[in-house]
Amino acid sequence: MALAKTTRHTEWWLKTLKRRRERMQGEYLDTSTPVAWHSPSEQRAAVNFFNAAFRAEESGLRQAHELADEVRAWDGDLAEVLKLYGDEEGWHRELLVEFLDSIGGSVRPMGRVTRTFYAIYARAKRMETIVLTNLMFETIGATTYRLALGRVEHGAVRQMLTILTRDESFHVPLNVHFLRKILERRSTADAKRLRRIYYLLFVSLLALPLASRPKAREFDHISTRELMRAYAEQLARLFAHEPDLGLTPPKLLLRMLGISEAALEEPAIASASVEAAERAAEREAVEVHAL
Ligand SMILES: [Fe+2]
Ligand SMILES: [Fe+2]
Repeated sequence: MALAKTTRHTEWWLKTLKRRRERMQGEYLDTSTPVAWHSPSEQRAAVNFFNAAFRAEESGLRQAHELADEVRAWDGDLAEVLKLYGDEEGWHRELLVEFLDSIGGSVRPMGRVTRTFYAIYARAKRMETIVLTNLMFETIGATTYRLALGRVEHGAVRQMLTILTRDESFHVPLNVHFLRKILERRSTADAKRLRRIYYLLFVSLLALPLASRPKAREFDHISTRELMRAYAEQLARLFAHEPDLGLTPPKLLLRMLGISEAALEEPAIASASVEAAERAAEREAVEVHAL
């Protein structure tokens, strides 16, 4: 039996990202058919939803480029991978500006909760903390997009959601690669510290639906409890098959949300594995399913 591949060399990621960059240039958003909203409040909720997506892309872009500058001193190829990854988030950011405009919205200042969250995140200095936070953010983003895809019918909205979901599923295993490369240079005490941060982030991210639901629910039709449970399940599955990282989820919290250990064995929507990255690498070949 062939051994499962748990890692890929930076060279593979670099080659794949370069190939993706060429294809990115030939992909466009079709905004020619106006979205027929059921009500002005549904439209407002959609603008809120995509504003949150915009902020996530903006943060991903900035963090990736800052990390690239830091990493360049010890690994030029990894720095280039981070740069190209940040560029993909930058492309998403541009698409979202165009999309928001097409649905009669615009980029607005952040709300209180979002602002506080990003302000705390921006203070993180250690590379492994930044990468782990980003990775968990990619996961909850992909989860929300995929749940929304199952409930939203407007064609242009579905195209936007499909592009984001598809690319975030490639970004998750890519971030796991960054995390491993950074942890190689860290001590056991640093790895332990990261586990504590994983716990803390896990719990904090589960509270986000409390802030996002009143603003976006009329558009995506996802309830608070449903989204919390989906976040917990996907965040717990994220590292379920990467035992070397030692990032195990808070069991009590999972039990409280009714998530069994067996449920964690199922594949995550945005899996951390290299096999998942290989499947997600070629954009045309990715089939995006709603949750
Ligand atoms: Fe993105
Ligand atoms: Fe991403």
